[in-house]
Amino acid sequence: MKKFLVVGNPINHSLSPKLHNYWIHQNKLKAVYEKKQVEEEKIKEIIREIKEEKISGINVTVPFKQSVIPFLSFLTPVAKKTNSVNTVYKKENQIIGDNTDVIGFKSAVKFINFDVKYKKALVLGAGGVAPSIILALEEMGASEITLSNRTQEKAESLRKNFNKLKLISWGKTVEADIIINTTSLGLNREDKIKIDYNKIGSNKLFYDLIYNPTQTKFLSEAKKVNNQTENGKIMFIYQAQQAFKIWHNIEPKIDDNLIKLLDND
Ligand code: ATR
Repeated sequence: MKKFLVVGNPINHSLSPKLHNYWIHQNKLKAVYEKKQVEEEKIKEIIREIKEEKISGINVTVPFKQSVIPFLSFLTPVAKKTNSVNTVYKKENQIIGDNTDVIGFKSAVKFINFDVKYKKALVLGAGGVAPSIILALEEMGASEITLSNRTQEKAESLRKNFNKLKLISWGKTVEADIIINTTSLGLNREDKIKIDYNKIGSNKLFYDLIYNPTQTKFLSEAKKVNNQTENGKIMFIYQAQQAFKIWHNIEPKIDDNLIKLLDND
């Protein structure tokens, strides 16, 4: 029986086990996927268990997507460019770190038929997942990417890898066609993001990476002034699909049943 894990802290909210176990069952695989809340010191030990083949693979989530990197022997180009790893496994005696958030976001945007090419993007937040969103936007041909983060230094350090990134202070806005919330603001229902929704205008796409709650204040405020809104559920499903494909060499199906399965929580 192969064992897979998602590790993070906190991890209770994670729907990854539900999703992966659904696909494991659907494809009649002898495997199990569990969640594990760990402290940072434990990461090294978990990677050793992958080396010893006690664990076949892990997903890494907040706040370890970066701190796991020193324990890995090889990073895929996407993981390297984003300095962010969410999928780990052993191949030819090497412990590989990959990043499926980039393709997850690209697929999710494609799913709603939004074309990023030549569009202006505003990214809110400079935490663990922000570099994946920036890389995806760059690769999809955004004409301009502006980033706003409460802690200015973190935004500036992102510019080392993405030198075309424009920075604005937290709370400020710019003209944009797509506005993406990558911060953790919204996980609590009362969380507000203080931006000028009227200034951004209408008929834009507001994308929140948060999918639980399904509608954050960021999205409901945007909706009030006639914007298109999407939560992070489809991105979450696509990043999981790619991880599944890497580990099992099968591309699992995404259908209405599966999408509904995640709604029941
Ligand atoms: P990490 O920063 O450890 O990678 P994360 O959950 O990936 O954690 O990122 C949290 C993001 O949400 C950051 O952009 C953070 O802003 P700071 O860099 O200033 O910390 C943002 N964030 C969290 N709480 C916030 C708040 N109350 N106001 C504004 N931004 C907040």
